[in-house]
Amino acid sequence: MTDAEPNLADFAFEDSVAHSLSLRPRRIASKWLYDDVGAGLFEGIVASPGYYAARAELEILQAHGPEIARALGRGGSLVELGSGASTKVRRLLDAMPGLTRYVPVEISEAQLLEAAEAIRGDYPDLEVTPIAADFTKDFDLSDVVGDSPVLGFFPGSTLCNLLPENSETFMRRMHALLGADSLFLVGVDLQKDEAILRRAYNEPGGAIWDFNLNILERMNSEFGAGLDRSDFRHEAIYNTEAQRIEAAIYPLRDLSVTVAGQSFDLPADEPIVLEYSHKYTLESFAALAARAGWGTLNAWTDRENLFSVHLLTNRGPA
Ligand SMILES: C[S@@+](CC[C@H](N)C(=O)[O-])C[C@H]1O[C@@H](n2cnc3c(N)ncnc32)[C@H](O)[C@@H]1O
Repeated sequence: MTDAEPNLADFAFEDSVAHSLSLRPRRIASKWLYDDVGAGLFEGIVASPGYYAARAELEILQAHGPEIARALGRGGSLVELGSGASTKVRRLLDAMPGLTRYVPVEISEAQLLEAAEAIRGDYPDLEVTPIAADFTKDFDLSDVVGDSPVLGFFPGSTLCNLLPENSETFMRRMHALLGADSLFLVGVDLQKDEAILRRAYNEPGGAIWDFNLNILERMNSEFGAGLDRSDFRHEAIYNTEAQRIEAAIYPLRDLSVTVAGQSFDLPADEPIVLEYSHKYTLESFAALAARAGWGTLNAWTDRENLFSVHLLTNRGPA
């Protein structure tokens, strides 16, 4: 695979998988992990005790919610990208009684609508406008947020799943989506002891395995791939040079599969990468944000320095 590969998000699922299996290494875009079943399995990861990222991010949002609320002011709109079950955002909503509107944006439509309903029930004064969209593609929010102050929210280190140059392009696109004078709050996982990372992503047979192996069920149900999950194992390695976790499934024996009318060999022990999770330092993420035209107002970490949340301004680097 080269960094100049086409944007995998431009294909429909079956075509995207066919393209992925012709790359070396084979790599399926991680957004395909979130069908309705995958979205539910992801909640199992968030709840699992070994997964430090969700715990650490919640701690930061709890500690700094009031400061973030003051930066936005009253009467604003909070736009969450990849909102999932809209769980973490509650720490912000609790700290923002003056907020007018919550706009969750999510690719998994069933989960989006269910989460929006739950938020409406618990925050009756808030306007909730769910948008089912793929955030790697262009869409428009101006009709929804009008000229209210906007805070974009991109938690869960979802940005870390993108290749660094794609993250920069994504961050640049967010200027147009969130609008002039917007703020952007981004959750970013930090570089740390490799053993902690390997443990968090490799809990044998645990929630991450279930989540990643579910891609095989999705391929079976959406285009009859006929693959059996007992023919695969899951492993996440840390690529020190690229500073990223590479989570992959590995065939246990030589297999083949037909996708979009093409036959592909899946040799034993050759990885099919499902997720990259790039790890940053406070400085390397601030530099990426600055290259994309965002200024850093503040960057916070949890007590153990495992995770970071960055408050950025559209007005650009100082
Ligand atoms: C890592 S989870 C984070 C969920 C939640 N925001 C949290 O922090 O717990 C990523 C979320 O982004 C969604 N997602 C992934 N790729 C997406 C895309 N291209 N467009 C829209 N949503 C996407 C997934 O369905 C999932 O809910």
